[in-house]
Amino acid sequence: MIQIRSCEGFGELEACVELQIETWGYDESDAIPRKTFLLAQEIGGQVLGAFEAETLVGFAMSLPGIKETQNGPRPYLHSHMLAVRESHRNRGLGAQLKWEQRREALSRGIRYMEWTFDPLEIKNAFLNIHRLGAICRTYLVDFYGVSSSRLQGGLPTDRLLAEWELDSPRVEAIFARRPAIEYQIEDRIDVPAAIDQWKAGEASRERARKVQLENGRMFQQAFSRGLAVLGFSRDADGNGVYEMGSAAQVVSGQATTFLKDYRNL
Ligand SMILES: CC(C)(COP(=O)(O)OP(=O)(O)OC[C@H]1O[C@@H](n2cnc3c(N)ncnc32)[C@H](O)[C@@H]1OP(=O)(O)O)[C@@H](O)C(=O)NCCC(=O)NCCS
Repeated sequence: MIQIRSCEGFGELEACVELQIETWGYDESDAIPRKTFLLAQEIGGQVLGAFEAETLVGFAMSLPGIKETQNGPRPYLHSHMLAVRESHRNRGLGAQLKWEQRREALSRGIRYMEWTFDPLEIKNAFLNIHRLGAICRTYLVDFYGVSSSRLQGGLPTDRLLAEWELDSPRVEAIFARRPAIEYQIEDRIDVPAAIDQWKAGEASRERARKVQLENGRMFQQAFSRGLAVLGFSRDADGNGVYEMGSAAQVVSGQATTFLKDYRNL
């Protein structure tokens, strides 16, 4: 029996710090300390935990932000970390933590969230795009600079920016398990299932880097043509495919009107 709720007290925040280090293998320069988790809660962000009895087995942490839009400032949440203990993965907990982030944000009138993820991580792409309905229109080259994360495999920290319009018809439909809104696919970008293996091995890392460079080039070209990542599918062998189409098919209005954004940096 797993309970998803806001973390309370120093002990539960410290458990998030520990799970963070267990998950990413960060050294001291990269790990986010308990104080920052505390501040996230104090300033209108979120620190949500998944608890099995009293033990933390997953958490999601977000920070509040403001975007300038044509309709004035718009508050939003930047979800910085999502982690589920290895023993508890693939049982829907990651998705449940995201849906709880959404519920809590909407309860305060916050209608937009975003986060970044490594486009070479097939599972994360599947969760973010297919299961949650986020879309991507921005490719960030080496976003964090050098990272001690063991999941990064020493590659540059290229990221896709996931945009989650919390009450869009697309996200509402997925949440309510109704048929997803259909879209036309104009382009596809593949990620081979072997990418994790290639990243992990010293000798094969160059191969992973080639895929990162080539896919990064394709994402940037597609985004400059006005396409967005709208879908993600995987085949029986675990290979992933990003499906690109015009964003206007699934988003409207505010989502496209940010004045200051990573896109304009
Ligand atoms: C990402 C993470 C939080 C997901 O948590 P989780 O509880 O395992 O996620 P869920 O079970 O809710 O959803 C995962 C989905 O991916 C699917 N999946 C699992 N392995 C996969 C793979 N190799 N390729 C594609 N999809 C995969 C699961 O089947 C599930 O989909 P389903 O609901 O259709 O079965 C967890 O894997 C984790 O902590 N990873 C390390 C840290 C990290 O990468 N955080 C995210 C940064 S954006």
